[in-house]
Amino acid sequence: MLTQNQLKLAVAQKALEFVPDNCIVGVGTGSTVNLFIEELATIKGRIKGAVSSSEASTERLKAHHIPVYDLNTVDEVPVYIDGADEVNHYLHMIKGGGGALTREKIVGAVANEFICIADETKYVDVLGGFPLPVEVVPMARSYVARELVKLGGHPELREHFVTDNGNIILDVYRLHISKPVELEETINQIAGVVTCGLFARRRADVLILGRQSGIEVLR
Ligand code: 5RP
Repeated sequence: MLTQNQLKLAVAQKALEFVPDNCIVGVGTGSTVNLFIEELATIKGRIKGAVSSSEASTERLKAHHIPVYDLNTVDEVPVYIDGADEVNHYLHMIKGGGGALTREKIVGAVANEFICIADETKYVDVLGGFPLPVEVVPMARSYVARELVKLGGHPELREHFVTDNGNIILDVYRLHISKPVELEETINQIAGVVTCGLFARRRADVLILGRQSGIEVLR
């Protein structure tokens, strides 16, 4: 029986196969990605560098002497490698457990291919078991919370947490997300929401899923 951490390591290692030579790699955030960064360091000679979705990942990349580019200076990001809190069979995801959802969504939008790396505990039929993170401009906290309640959610302020963009996170409990694309659009329209952690309009293109029975690559 492999531990969750061993499964995370297996998918992080497998992800290297998806990194083209001489490219700038999009790098996500979280414990699975931290393992991927360790792997990326072993092949850093064959890439140009990275664009990063968080200050935390930037620091780790730099510690490995992997050049980190400002996204605005980069023409093409062939692949973006990131974890997820939940992923369904259509490769829609909930992300933002680490609070980096907005920058993750930006780098994911720029990338030609979004590659999700996850262990099988994250693979679900219906999204919403994991509370949905929503990044919110601080002055809109109460208003956005009331609107989220109208949508059937139970928002809770993530205590003592400020995003890399200076905002707060509301974690929304008890949502049963049967229409992820629609819900993503609805939540993102609420004034004061920067973005929500549903990645459905731009889903993953590839899921590298670590299972006890082996690694599956799903598209
Ligand atoms: C961070 C994220 C992460 O990808 C997500 O939380 C999964 O993290 P981990 O690999 O630690 O389970 O969206 O904002």
